[in-house]
Amino acid sequence: MPSCYANTADPNLVFVSSIKPALCKIDIIQEGKNTLQIYSNLTLRIRAANKEDRQDVLRFCADTFEWGDYIDQVWDLWYLDRNGLLIVVEEEEQENNILRSRRQSSVIAVSHVSLCPNKNIWLEGIRVNPDHRRRSIATALLNKMISYGKERGAREASAVVAYNNIASQLMMQKMDFVVISRWNYYSLNKIPKRVGKLEARPKVATLNDIEMICNYLKQSETYKSSGETYVSSWRWYSLDLYSDALPDLVKNKKVLVIENERIEGVAIINKDIPWNINNNNNIFQIVYLDASDIFLLEEILSFAMNLLHSEGEIYEKIQVFSPQTTYISTVMQKLGIESPEQFLLYRRKI
Ligand SMILES: CC(C)(COP(=O)(O)OP(=O)(O)OC[C@H]1O[C@@H](n2cnc3c(N)ncnc32)[C@H](O)[C@@H]1OP(=O)(O)O)[C@@H](O)C(=O)NCCC(=O)NCCS
Repeated sequence: MPSCYANTADPNLVFVSSIKPALCKIDIIQEGKNTLQIYSNLTLRIRAANKEDRQDVLRFCADTFEWGDYIDQVWDLWYLDRNGLLIVVEEEEQENNILRSRRQSSVIAVSHVSLCPNKNIWLEGIRVNPDHRRRSIATALLNKMISYGKERGAREASAVVAYNNIASQLMMQKMDFVVISRWNYYSLNKIPKRVGKLEARPKVATLNDIEMICNYLKQSETYKSSGETYVSSWRWYSLDLYSDALPDLVKNKKVLVIENERIEGVAIINKDIPWNINNNNNIFQIVYLDASDIFLLEEILSFAMNLLHSEGEIYEKIQVFSPQTTYISTVMQKLGIESPEQFLLYRRKI
C-alpha cells in the first residue's frame, strides 16, 4: 500500500498515512492551575514553490551536510526552470478551541525535478527539515516528482546519492530505485602545471572518429560500469551509442580521444556550468574518463588538463568525475589527489 495518496478534492493535499505522530499535534499548556490540551489539525500540502518560500527553505537547509548545503546557490535557477518544477511541502496547523483559533503554516521540505532527454527525469535537492524527518515526507515528494514526470511522458527517473548518505540510499531503495553505477569525484583547487610532450597523441575528436569511438566504448568495461552515462553539471545523462548524445558532444568539441590506429581512450569535458557550489564560474569539468591502460589514462587526463593552459579563460578549479575503474585512483594519486568522494547513480522505471 502506498504510504501517501492525494486528496481528490484538492490535488495538492497529501495525507501521509504513516505520519508520525498522527494527524494532530498536542500541546500541553498551563493556564493557572489547569492543564489544557490543545489539539491542532495538521495538513501537509505539496505545491510548487513561491518566491517567498526561499527564506524558509534556506533556514532549514543551511547545515544539511557537514560542509553546509548548495540550495541557496541553485534556488533561483530551479525556481525559474521552465523544464522542471521546484516543489515544497507546507505544513499547516489549525487550532480551534476555547482559548484560541489560529492557523499557521510553515515550509518543511523541498525538492526539484527536471525533465531530461530520453524520457528521463532527474530528481535532486530533496531536503526535509530535521524536525520533520521519518514522517514519509521525502517519500511524498518523490511520488509527486514521479507523477510530474509521468504526466509529461517520462519513462525513467534518476538521481545521485553520496556513498556515505545511508539514510538517502535506504530511501531510494524503499522507492524501488536501483544502483546503476558508482562514480568517483575529485576536486582540484589548483590547476596542475602543463605536462610537456605527450606520447600517445591525444586529440579533440571529430565527427570522423565517431564510429571508432563507438567501437571502443562497446567493448569498454568502464563504459559498462558507468551505466552508459556521463555527467554534465552534476546531472548524469545517457551516453546511448544509438542516440545523438555522442555526435552532439563531438560537435561541441567536448570529446577527447587517444587514437593509435584505433581509439584507445575517451574523455568528455564540460566548461558550461550554470551553477556551482563555490560560487565560482571558472570550473573545468572532466565528466567521463576511460582508457585501455594506466599509461593512456594518465595521457588523456594530462591532455584534458593541458587544454586549460591553451584557453584564454582562467580556470580556478577542476572537477573530475569518473566511473570506478582499476587505475583511476593510482593516476589521481600521482597528481597528488587522494580520497575521492563517491556517488551512486540510481534509476527506476516510472
Ligand atoms: C534523506 C531524507 C530526505 C529523508 O527524508 P524523510 O522525510 O525523513 O524520509 P521518509 O520519512 O520518506 O523515509 C522513507 C524511507 O527512507 C528510509 N530512511 C529515511 N531516513 C532514514 C534514516 N535516518 N535512517 C534509516 N532509514 C531512513 C527508511 O526506509 C524510510 O522508511 P521508514 O520510515 O518506513 O523506515 C532526509 O533525511 C534529509 O533531508 N536528509 C538530508 C538531505 C539529504 O540527504 N537529501 C537527499 C540527498 S540525495
